Amino acid sequence: MSKLLLTNIGMLATPQGSAAKKGPEQGAIQILKDAWVLVEDGVIAQVGTGAAPAVADAKVVDAGGNLVTPGLVDAHTHLIFGGWRQNELGMKLHGKTYLEIQNAGGGIQSTTNATRKASAEELTEKAAKALDEMMGFGVTTCEAKSGYGLATEHELKALQVIKNLNDRHPMDIVPTFMGAHLVPAEYKQNREEYIRLVCEEMMPAVKEQGIAKFCDVFCEADTFTVEESRQVLEAGLKYGLRPKIHADEIEAIGGSQLAGEIGAISAEHLIVCPPEGIESMAKGGVIACLLPATSFNLGAVFAPARDMVNAGVPVAMATDFNPGSCPCLNLQFVINLGCLKYKLTPEEVLTAVTLNAAAAIDMADKVGSVEVGKQGDLVIWDAPDLDYICYRVGSNLAKTVIKRGELI
Ligand code: NIG
Ligand code: FE
Repeated sequence: MSKLLLTNIGMLATPQGSAAKKGPEQGAIQILKDAWVLVEDGVIAQVGTGAAPAVADAKVVDAGGNLVTPGLVDAHTHLIFGGWRQNELGMKLHGKTYLEIQNAGGGIQSTTNATRKASAEELTEKAAKALDEMMGFGVTTCEAKSGYGLATEHELKALQVIKNLNDRHPMDIVPTFMGAHLVPAEYKQNREEYIRLVCEEMMPAVKEQGIAKFCDVFCEADTFTVEESRQVLEAGLKYGLRPKIHADEIEAIGGSQLAGEIGAISAEHLIVCPPEGIESMAKGGVIACLLPATSFNLGAVFAPARDMVNAGVPVAMATDFNPGSCPCLNLQFVINLGCLKYKLTPEEVLTAVTLNAAAAIDMADKVGSVEVGKQGDLVIWDAPDLDYICYRVGSNLAKTVIKRGELI
């Protein structure tokens, strides 16, 4: 049996439980001073305070009196893509909007062209590098979407790459099928046919290969309408894919209301979410997965996170790592923005990037908190307390990352 004993923890900060926290519970985390954690065979076996016990054959790691939290969970990434889009920066600086760039053939379509050209091996190498970087920032579990293939062969290729990475990389990666990310150029005049392809050809193949857990759709002006999004998500349900939805990112066309109606596990972005959307999500038990680094990159406003917490919607936060609207995979920056822009407390923010993020990808029974029975995924921070990591901006403060009881 492999054992890791983490001692001399100045502050252990963690949410508790196996389900998303909402309302006042989102900020009600456990703080233990002078703590220790024992991990056995990758699973947390004991948590205590005061003098650590002597454990035979355990590898002892001294946390140096620092902060320890659960490994962070990045619940929303577009990890698999070819190329980058630094060429769009100049257009942005000259005032072109995200949708103008997309409609001019840039945006998702240009990344689709690059992703179709890339081999599975090339995509794997590129994504593995991103995963290494994410782990260096303290992320131990992430979600990854397809959505830059937009053709059966290439959507399946992307999901296969995620599966391969899961087998070879220490990160736990939860796969989402997002064939409905954009109507690709060749179907622009025949969008019904593309939606048919997504629902009747891609989804059955995804189910047969067992390579996705969720189905996501970009419900947005000039992309997929509310009715088209409903059609895609209902078809996904038939194939065992739980619904997620990119909603209210740029225009509020009704995506958050749909999320509540359809009982999506999560709705993403919600930058311009109206009160009716918040109400619908609260009723439908939807987790709001907020992506503040995207607001930052788009120069947009920030989602009404406080209204969501007040309305009893559990709030998660993630990076949205992608080559266009958010070329950022640093979840620590998201933590900063959660406090500074959403005005969430450090405790609410910690829950948003651990337990609630885990719940948004149906992993809250395994990760997202430091408790007996959960995976031994932990971060030792170069920080004395939780406030410090929320307040310091621009440095990587993750000192040691532990995945299933192993030092990374
Ligand atoms: O979440 N909104 C849709 N998808 C991504 C952006 C994709 C891209 O720009 O390549 C997002 O923002
Ligand atoms: Fe996204």
